[in-house]
Amino acid sequence: MVQLTAVFLFASVLTIAMGTPLIKRDMATIQADITNISSLLVTWDNDVNAFAGTTDGAAAIHDDSVALESAFNTAITDTQATSNFSTDMDGLLVLGQIENSSTILVGGLTQIAVKGANFTSINETSAIMSDLATLGAAATGLIAAIGDIITDQEVVAQATQLETTWSAAFGDAISDLQTGL
Ligand SMILES: *[C@@H]1O[C@H](CO)[C@@H](O)[C@H](O)[C@H]1NC(C)=O
Ligand SMILES: *[C@@H]1O[C@H](CO)[C@@H](O)[C@H](O)[C@H]1NC(C)=O
Ligand SMILES: *[C@@H]1O[C@H](CO)[C@@H](O)[C@H](O)[C@H]1NC(C)=O
Ligand SMILES: *[C@@H]1O[C@H](CO)[C@@H](O)[C@H](O)[C@H]1NC(C)=O
Ligand SMILES: *[C@@H]1O[C@H](CO)[C@@H](O)[C@H](O)[C@H]1NC(C)=O
Repeated sequence: MVQLTAVFLFASVLTIAMGTPLIKRDMATIQADITNISSLLVTWDNDVNAFAGTTDGAAAIHDDSVALESAFNTAITDTQATSNFSTDMDGLLVLGQIENSSTILVGGLTQIAVKGANFTSINETSAIMSDLATLGAAATGLIAAIGDIITDQEVVAQATQLETTWSAAFGDAISDLQTGL
Protein backbone atom coordinates (compact mmCIF):
# COMPACT_ATOMS: atom_id res chain seq x y z
CA MET A 1 0.00 0.00 0.00
CA VAL A 2 2.87 2.34 0.79
CA GLN A 3 4.35 1.74 -2.65
CA LEU A 4 0.98 2.26 -4.27
CA THR A 5 0.52 5.61 -2.57
CA ALA A 6 3.92 6.65 -3.89
CA VAL A 7 2.88 5.76 -7.44
CA PHE A 8 -0.32 7.79 -7.06
CA LEU A 9 1.54 10.75 -5.64
CA PHE A 10 4.21 10.67 -8.31
CA ALA A 11 1.65 10.46 -11.11
CA SER A 12 -0.37 13.28 -9.53
CA VAL A 13 2.65 15.53 -9.34
CA LEU A 14 3.41 14.80 -12.98
CA THR A 15 -0.16 15.59 -13.94
CA ILE A 16 -0.02 18.91 -12.13
CA ALA A 17 3.36 19.77 -13.64
CA MET A 18 2.09 19.13 -17.17
CA GLY A 19 -1.30 20.73 -16.72
CA THR A 20 -0.18 24.35 -16.86
CA PRO A 21 -3.32 26.32 -17.60
CA LEU A 22 -2.96 28.59 -20.64
CA ILE A 23 -6.54 29.11 -21.73
CA LYS A 24 -9.32 29.88 -19.25
CA ARG A 25 -12.04 27.21 -19.04
CA ASP A 26 -15.41 27.21 -17.35
CA MET A 27 -17.87 24.94 -15.61
CA ALA A 28 -19.57 23.92 -18.87
CA THR A 29 -16.24 22.59 -20.18
CA ILE A 30 -15.72 20.53 -17.02
CA GLN A 31 -19.24 19.15 -17.26
CA ALA A 32 -18.74 18.18 -20.92
CA ASP A 33 -15.46 16.48 -19.95
CA ILE A 34 -17.25 14.50 -17.24
CA THR A 35 -20.02 13.50 -19.65
CA ASN A 36 -17.31 12.11 -21.93
CA ILE A 37 -15.67 10.29 -19.01
CA SER A 38 -19.04 8.78 -18.01
CA SER A 39 -19.60 7.39 -21.48
CA LEU A 40 -16.02 6.03 -21.72
CA LEU A 41 -16.54 4.39 -18.32
CA VAL A 42 -19.62 2.57 -19.65
CA THR A 43 -17.58 1.20 -22.57
CA TRP A 44 -14.77 0.14 -20.23
CA ASP A 45 -17.22 -1.54 -17.84
CA ASN A 46 -18.91 -3.40 -20.72
CA ASP A 47 -15.53 -4.71 -21.89
CA VAL A 48 -14.59 -5.68 -18.33
CA ASN A 49 -17.85 -7.60 -17.96
CA ALA A 50 -17.38 -9.29 -21.34
CA PHE A 51 -13.78 -10.30 -20.54
CA ALA A 52 -13.41 -14.09 -20.44
CA GLY A 53 -9.66 -14.54 -20.42
CA THR A 54 -8.73 -13.82 -24.06
CA THR A 55 -5.86 -11.55 -25.14
CA ASP A 56 -8.30 -9.61 -27.39
CA GLY A 57 -10.51 -9.00 -24.37
CA ALA A 58 -7.54 -7.76 -22.34
CA ALA A 59 -6.46 -5.51 -25.23
CA ALA A 60 -9.95 -3.96 -25.41
CA ILE A 61 -9.84 -3.17 -21.68
CA HIS A 62 -6.35 -1.69 -22.08
CA ASP A 63 -7.46 0.57 -24.97
CA ASP A 64 -10.49 1.72 -22.98
CA SER A 65 -8.25 2.44 -20.02
CA VAL A 66 -5.86 4.55 -22.11
CA ALA A 67 -8.78 6.59 -23.53
CA LEU A 68 -10.26 7.05 -20.06
CA GLU A 69 -6.97 8.15 -18.59
CA SER A 70 -6.57 10.70 -21.37
CA ALA A 71 -10.12 11.99 -20.78
CA PHE A 72 -9.44 12.31 -17.03
CA ASN A 73 -6.23 14.20 -17.75
CA THR A 74 -8.02 16.56 -20.16
CA ALA A 75 -10.61 17.21 -17.46
CA ILE A 76 -7.83 17.91 -14.92
CA THR A 77 -6.19 20.42 -17.28
CA ASP A 78 -9.53 22.12 -17.93
CA THR A 79 -10.38 22.19 -14.22
CA GLN A 80 -7.04 23.76 -13.36
CA ALA A 81 -7.75 26.46 -15.95
CA THR A 82 -11.10 27.27 -14.30
CA SER A 83 -11.62 29.85 -11.56
CA ASN A 84 -13.22 28.74 -8.27
CA PHE A 85 -16.89 27.86 -8.64
CA SER A 86 -18.95 30.95 -7.88
CA THR A 87 -21.53 29.06 -5.80
CA ASP A 88 -21.53 25.92 -3.61
CA MET A 89 -24.31 24.58 -5.85
CA ASP A 90 -21.92 24.53 -8.83
CA GLY A 91 -19.45 22.44 -6.89
CA LEU A 92 -22.18 20.07 -5.69
CA LEU A 93 -23.56 19.75 -9.22
CA VAL A 94 -20.19 18.75 -10.67
CA LEU A 95 -19.48 16.37 -7.79
CA GLY A 96 -22.92 14.80 -8.29
CA GLN A 97 -22.16 14.30 -11.97
CA ILE A 98 -18.94 12.47 -11.10
CA GLU A 99 -20.54 10.53 -8.27
CA ASN A 100 -23.06 9.32 -10.81
CA SER A 101 -20.32 7.19 -12.40
CA SER A 102 -19.07 5.85 -9.10
CA THR A 103 -21.19 2.69 -9.15
CA ILE A 104 -19.95 1.78 -12.61
CA LEU A 105 -16.33 2.51 -11.74
CA VAL A 106 -16.34 0.58 -8.47
CA GLY A 107 -18.32 -2.29 -10.06
CA GLY A 108 -15.83 -2.54 -12.94
CA LEU A 109 -12.88 -2.57 -10.55
CA THR A 110 -14.52 -5.34 -8.52
CA GLN A 111 -15.07 -7.39 -11.68
CA ILE A 112 -11.42 -6.99 -12.67
CA ALA A 113 -10.37 -8.30 -9.26
CA VAL A 114 -12.85 -11.20 -9.52
CA LYS A 115 -11.35 -12.09 -12.92
CA GLY A 116 -7.80 -11.96 -11.60
CA ALA A 117 -7.15 -15.60 -12.53
CA ASN A 118 -8.29 -14.92 -16.11
CA PHE A 119 -5.70 -12.16 -16.43
CA THR A 120 -3.02 -14.38 -14.89
CA SER A 121 -3.79 -17.23 -17.29
CA ILE A 122 -2.80 -14.99 -20.24
CA ASN A 123 0.10 -13.27 -18.39
CA GLU A 124 -1.73 -9.91 -18.35
CA THR A 125 -1.83 -9.34 -14.60
CA SER A 126 1.14 -6.96 -14.43
CA ALA A 127 -0.20 -5.01 -17.41
CA ILE A 128 -3.68 -4.55 -15.94
CA MET A 129 -2.21 -3.59 -12.55
CA SER A 130 -0.07 -0.96 -14.21
CA ASP A 131 -3.09 0.38 -16.15
CA LEU A 132 -5.12 0.57 -12.94
CA ALA A 133 -2.34 2.45 -11.12
CA THR A 134 -2.13 5.21 -13.75
CA LEU A 135 -5.90 5.28 -14.29
CA GLY A 136 -6.43 5.57 -10.52
CA ALA A 137 -3.99 8.46 -10.30
CA ALA A 138 -5.80 10.29 -13.13
CA ALA A 139 -9.29 9.59 -11.70
CA THR A 140 -8.47 10.67 -8.15
CA GLY A 141 -6.42 13.56 -9.58
CA LEU A 142 -9.56 14.94 -11.21
CA ILE A 143 -11.48 14.88 -7.94
CA ALA A 144 -8.56 16.59 -6.21
CA ALA A 145 -8.46 19.27 -8.94
CA ILE A 146 -12.20 19.85 -8.54
CA GLY A 147 -11.76 20.10 -4.76
CA ASP A 148 -9.19 22.82 -5.39
CA ILE A 149 -11.73 25.07 -7.13
CA ILE A 150 -14.44 24.61 -4.52
CA THR A 151 -14.33 27.37 -1.92
CA ASP A 152 -16.72 26.00 0.72
CA GLN A 153 -14.81 23.65 3.03
CA GLU A 154 -17.81 21.39 3.66
CA VAL A 155 -18.18 20.80 -0.05
CA VAL A 156 -14.41 20.29 -0.33
CA ALA A 157 -14.81 17.59 2.35
CA GLN A 158 -17.35 15.81 0.12
CA ALA A 159 -14.87 15.85 -2.74
CA THR A 160 -12.17 14.47 -0.45
CA GLN A 161 -14.49 11.69 0.66
CA LEU A 162 -15.21 10.68 -2.94
CA GLU A 163 -11.49 10.80 -3.72
CA THR A 164 -10.84 8.47 -0.76
CA THR A 165 -13.54 6.05 -1.95
CA TRP A 166 -12.09 5.89 -5.46
CA SER A 167 -8.55 5.59 -4.20
CA ALA A 168 -9.58 2.66 -1.97
CA ALA A 169 -11.45 0.96 -4.83
CA PHE A 170 -8.39 1.14 -7.11
CA GLY A 171 -6.10 0.09 -4.23
CA ASP A 172 -8.28 -2.93 -3.38
CA ALA A 173 -8.44 -4.11 -7.00
CA ILE A 174 -4.68 -3.77 -7.42
CA SER A 175 -3.87 -5.58 -4.18
CA ASP A 176 -6.32 -8.38 -5.05
CA LEU A 177 -4.60 -8.80 -8.43
CA GLN A 178 -1.21 -8.72 -6.69
CA THR A 179 -2.33 -11.53 -4.38
CA GLY A 180 -3.22 -13.67 -7.39
CA LEU A 181 0.22 -13.29 -8.98
C1 LIG B 1 -13.47 11.92 -25.01
O1 LIG B 1 -12.15 11.64 -24.55
C2 LIG B 1 -11.33 11.00 -25.51
C3 LIG B 1 -10.01 10.66 -24.83
O2 LIG B 1 -9.39 11.82 -24.33
C4 LIG B 1 -11.15 11.91 -26.71
O3 LIG B 1 -10.36 11.25 -27.69
C5 LIG B 1 -12.50 12.25 -27.29
O4 LIG B 1 -12.36 13.18 -28.32
C6 LIG B 1 -13.41 12.83 -26.22
N1 LIG B 1 -14.75 12.98 -26.78
C7 LIG B 1 -15.47 14.06 -26.53
C8 LIG B 1 -16.84 14.07 -27.13
O5 LIG B 1 -15.05 15.00 -25.84
C1 LIG C 1 -26.77 10.25 -13.82
O1 LIG C 1 -26.82 9.23 -14.81
C2 LIG C 1 -28.09 9.03 -15.38
C3 LIG C 1 -28.02 7.88 -16.36
O2 LIG C 1 -26.91 7.11 -16.22
C4 LIG C 1 -28.54 10.30 -16.07
O3 LIG C 1 -29.81 10.14 -16.60
C5 LIG C 1 -28.52 11.46 -15.07
O4 LIG C 1 -28.80 12.66 -15.73
C6 LIG C 1 -27.16 11.57 -14.42
N1 LIG C 1 -27.17 12.60 -13.39
C7 LIG C 1 -26.22 13.53 -13.32
C8 LIG C 1 -26.29 14.48 -12.17
O5 LIG C 1 -25.32 13.60 -14.14
C1 LIG D 1 -12.08 -17.28 -17.13
O1 LIG D 1 -13.40 -16.85 -17.23
C2 LIG D 1 -14.34 -17.84 -17.56
C3 LIG D 1 -15.69 -17.18 -17.76
O2 LIG D 1 -15.83 -16.03 -17.00
C4 LIG D 1 -14.33 -18.89 -16.47
O3 LIG D 1 -15.28 -19.88 -16.76
C5 LIG D 1 -12.96 -19.48 -16.34
O4 LIG D 1 -12.91 -20.41 -15.29
C6 LIG D 1 -11.93 -18.40 -16.14
N1 LIG D 1 -10.59 -18.96 -16.22
C7 LIG D 1 -9.69 -18.76 -15.29
C8 LIG D 1 -8.33 -19.33 -15.56
O5 LIG D 1 -9.94 -18.15 -14.28
C1 LIG E 1 4.77 -12.14 -19.08
O1 LIG E 1 4.67 -10.73 -19.22
C2 LIG E 1 5.83 -10.03 -18.83
C3 LIG E 1 5.54 -8.55 -18.98
O2 LIG E 1 4.46 -8.20 -18.21
C4 LIG E 1 7.02 -10.47 -19.67
O3 LIG E 1 8.18 -9.80 -19.21
C5 LIG E 1 7.20 -11.96 -19.56
O4 LIG E 1 8.23 -12.38 -20.45
C6 LIG E 1 5.92 -12.68 -19.90
N1 LIG E 1 6.05 -14.11 -19.68
C7 LIG E 1 5.72 -15.02 -20.58
C8 LIG E 1 5.88 -16.45 -20.17
O5 LIG E 1 5.26 -14.71 -21.69
C1 LIG F 1 -10.41 28.69 -4.13
O1 LIG F 1 -10.77 27.64 -3.22
C2 LIG F 1 -9.70 27.14 -2.44
C3 LIG F 1 -10.24 26.06 -1.51
O2 LIG F 1 -10.48 24.86 -2.21
C4 LIG F 1 -9.10 28.26 -1.62
O3 LIG F 1 -7.96 27.77 -0.94
C5 LIG F 1 -8.69 29.42 -2.53
O4 LIG F 1 -8.25 30.50 -1.73
C6 LIG F 1 -9.85 29.87 -3.38
N1 LIG F 1 -9.40 30.90 -4.33
C7 LIG F 1 -10.03 32.05 -4.46
C8 LIG F 1 -9.45 32.98 -5.47
O5 LIG F 1 -11.03 32.31 -3.80
